[in-house]
Amino acid sequence: MRKKIIAGNWKMNKTVEEAVELANAIKLDLAECKEVDVVLCPPFTAIKAVSDVVSETLINVGSQNMSSEDEGAYTGEISHTMLKELFVRYVILGHSERREYYKETDFWINKKVKKALEKNLRPIVCVGEKLEDREGGNTEAVVEVQVREGLKDIPAAAYTELVIAYEPVWAIGTGKTATSAQAQEVHAFIRGIVKDMVGAEAADAVRIQYGGSMKPDNAPELLSQPDIDGGLIGGAALDAASFFGIVKAGM
Ligand code: 13P
Repeated sequence: MRKKIIAGNWKMNKTVEEAVELANAIKLDLAECKEVDVVLCPPFTAIKAVSDVVSETLINVGSQNMSSEDEGAYTGEISHTMLKELFVRYVILGHSERREYYKETDFWINKKVKKALEKNLRPIVCVGEKLEDREGGNTEAVVEVQVREGLKDIPAAAYTELVIAYEPVWAIGTGKTATSAQAQEVHAFIRGIVKDMVGAEAADAVRIQYGGSMKPDNAPELLSQPDIDGGLIGGAALDAASFFGIVKAGM
């Protein structure tokens, strides 16, 4: 039985003061949550403050990106050492917004995934098709390349640590959710690719989150699908009550 994992991707929202307020509100409900792995991913500038708020709880902290390099002349980048120093456990890698606006490619995402695993950070590797891919009947082809390239040469044993997030780009921030059947179909497809790449045991162990306009009202149905093991939440993670509502649906 895979434990569900619900992560809040706060994206480029919340000052330190606002982040502390939100983390404190989430902590009231979820400090002792054992049934679901809960992860908060604030912007880099608020990671330290949020880590301090949740330090004595079961809530985990994640980052929204990480450099593939150890240290040095990489202006604007953040290393694994810097993140671990702030008690970060998870790193979101290859989010569609990074692929789209900052031209991140599967090659670089794969380098980051390897670096994260080498340093005992848990990657949340994002994949997902654009609207034109879905309308053109290319969803599976696009997702397959992202999974095979992004997770290239990752050993089977690492799949208990890494998380895959299926986020159809057309469902992100649009209020348009994939139906539970649409999402389940792609999740099962992804698990099948993992099985083909590294075997049945790893495929059975890997957790696959859904992301894209997940809210407390659609979360129960999405999270009851056999291959949906959690959620990567954007907008609804910025409100403590909505985020709690989604986590509750995963309990
Ligand atoms: P929304 O929940 O706002 O659609 O965002 C999803 C997402 O991109 C999480 O990473």
